[in-house]
Amino acid sequence: MADLRTTYMGVPLANPIVVGSSSLSKSVDSIKRLEQAGAGGLVVKSLFEEQVQMEEEEFRTRLGALDLGFSEAVSMFPKMKDGGPKQHLYWVEQARKAVKMPLFASLNCVSRVTWGDYAKQLEGTGVNGIELNFYSPALDPEIAASDIEKREISILEGVRAAVKIPIAVKLHPHYTSLMNVVSRMETAGANAFVLFNRLLQPDIDVDTLTRYASVNLSSPGESLLPLRWVAILHDRVKADLVATTGIWTGRDVAKMVLVGAKAVQVVSVLYREQPTHIQKMLAELSSWMDAHNFANLDAFRGMLGQKQGVDAWSFARGQYIKALVGVD
Ligand SMILES: Cc1cc2nc3c(=O)[nH]c(=O)nc-3n(C[C@H](O)[C@H](O)[C@H](O)COP(=O)(O)O)c2cc1C
Repeated sequence: MADLRTTYMGVPLANPIVVGSSSLSKSVDSIKRLEQAGAGGLVVKSLFEEQVQMEEEEFRTRLGALDLGFSEAVSMFPKMKDGGPKQHLYWVEQARKAVKMPLFASLNCVSRVTWGDYAKQLEGTGVNGIELNFYSPALDPEIAASDIEKREISILEGVRAAVKIPIAVKLHPHYTSLMNVVSRMETAGANAFVLFNRLLQPDIDVDTLTRYASVNLSSPGESLLPLRWVAILHDRVKADLVATTGIWTGRDVAKMVLVGAKAVQVVSVLYREQPTHIQKMLAELSSWMDAHNFANLDAFRGMLGQKQGVDAWSFARGQYIKALVGVD
């Protein structure tokens, strides 16, 4: 069997399949099942900024000093089943004690810059690293993209200053200049990048004339976007690159490693299949490696990624023109 060891945020993993942040990790038992199924590591479901705000709001309400502006905003969010940050911290601590595989916390932090305290408390649970998710729809015409990026980087700097454990940033694919953002985030202390966060895409029902937002699971073809960007960033950053979205098979994992990924994160396929699907993916990756005589992941990592020294712009533009000109 091939050697599948690798790293995420510099943390050693037995294999490159990390279970991504989601309600797959809703209980300690389900985390144990994912470990037994062979997961190399797991990112626990996120602590959302709104959970922190709700706890503070409850506190303010008890003191009788209600901030109406924020109360209105809070009423627009669904009631959070998972309680506030204290409950989250307790649960992460229990999960950490229950399994041996590396466990990563996730903070969904969008506006406040005081995340250092929570990051420090999460570090206290014994997690191996923290993943930051900055997802927030940019809807205010007065706020420039550069201001949003500055805010994200200042949150990252605050968390970096507060903890010693490694930090990853889960990126979304809509930055105007992803290369620039990644380079600044790496300078600010990011040890890994996860490409890409999957954004909510509500749909409409033309029969009932209603909007709905179901849990939309990815499909395999969606892995081409992370594939492209891991290939471009490979050799240009020191941080570990981790691909996510639409990774369903062992061959998908092989592809991501071929363009330079250190690991992958999977969620949708595990909602569709049993946790034991991880074993199937690992077996498929391993037999593919044996067939190609690759003894370990380093033997082929980045083989098909873009090498430094190649003009990234001409390469990307050239591929685009070649693809379009070839179509009648
Ligand atoms: C039901 C569900 C819940 C999710 N919850 C979170 C979350 O709490 N935090 C987060 O960063 N990503 C969350 N995600 C995104 C996943 O971690 C992952 O990035 C995305 O689904 C792409 O991977 P996939 O194609 O394997 O599903 C969630 C995804 C799903 C489907």
